[in-house]
Amino acid sequence: MSMINHERISSGIEGLDVLMNGGIIKNSINSIVGSSGTGKTTFALAYLYQGLLEGDHTLYLSFEETPSKLIGEAESLGINIREMTNDAEDLIHLVESEKIVEFMTNILPALAQKLKHRNVKHTRIIVDPLTPILWEFPSEKEQRKVLTKIYHHLSSLGTVLQTVEEPNAFGQTDIGAKETRVPIYLSDSVIHIQNLGLGGKYNRTCKVIKSRKTPHHEGIYPLNFVNGPGLVIDTSSIQNVAFNPVVNDIRYQELMKRVKELSKDKDPKKRVIAQIAKNLLGERENRDSSQNMELVKVLTDNQILQEVRK
Ligand SMILES: Nc1ncnc2c1ncn2[C@@H]1O[C@H](COP(=O)(O)OP(=O)(O)O)[C@@H](O)[C@H]1O
Ligand SMILES: [Mg+2]
Repeated sequence: MSMINHERISSGIEGLDVLMNGGIIKNSINSIVGSSGTGKTTFALAYLYQGLLEGDHTLYLSFEETPSKLIGEAESLGINIREMTNDAEDLIHLVESEKIVEFMTNILPALAQKLKHRNVKHTRIIVDPLTPILWEFPSEKEQRKVLTKIYHHLSSLGTVLQTVEEPNAFGQTDIGAKETRVPIYLSDSVIHIQNLGLGGKYNRTCKVIKSRKTPHHEGIYPLNFVNGPGLVIDTSSIQNVAFNPVVNDIRYQELMKRVKELSKDKDPKKRVIAQIAKNLLGERENRDSSQNMELVKVLTDNQILQEVRK
């Protein structure tokens, strides 16, 4: 792994820059992978807004929703795009499904050429979601060919954030799914977001599953919708793990044994639960024993057990 200092930009998602060792590498391709409703578009809107704050040029390609709907959704979370510009609607380009192939293979390269000659400091490019393009090219070989070309143009233009729809399956990571395999393979970094439906702190989670050219934190972290920033990743467990040695007691040993077993289970759902449990155990130093119940609850929750038994 190369440790060269790459120039980075702030993602605009609180906590993510910490997980990614200081931010997103300039001119890289970054994927937000998650099933429907996990917060991918909100991620994209927060990334766009950060660009506006920093005076970046922005290009939001929407393959799903109209500009006014996206701006409205952002507003409902306190991300006030209209406050930053007089023509907010012009920031977002809706590409209709019949025009996707034409747009990505012809119009975009031409646009890239044109913009390159302008004196733009930095551009943030958002593709939300990439999935309809993948549908147009069902074979992985074709996907790879088309995406490589698109990424070549886009990364010469700026720093790309794309969202990728994950087939909905509890606890399953996306690496293996055919709907996400090629974009994940070609991306410089991949952030996986999930709605585990566990309730409480780990209801929605975020994990950096890939980050080329840079070390990154590997845990699963709580992700929350918060009015103002839009999305916040709670990275407090990183510090707790680093600075608070875990107290050894029988209860802890028993839980760790259980977590260890779970983390080796062939069922991916159990392995996800084990990772969450590890996070919670790392945080237990500053808590009273009643807080440990949160972990016990997570490990024995009926809903989880039912999911696991499926
Ligand atoms: N303040 C909020 N608290 C909790 N969930 C929210 C909040 N605002 C929006 N959501 C949820 O976020 C989801 C939409 O997020 P979105 O970014 O569009 O997801 P995706 O693009 O992954 O489909 C919806 O399920 C909505 O219920
Ligand atoms: Mg979306």
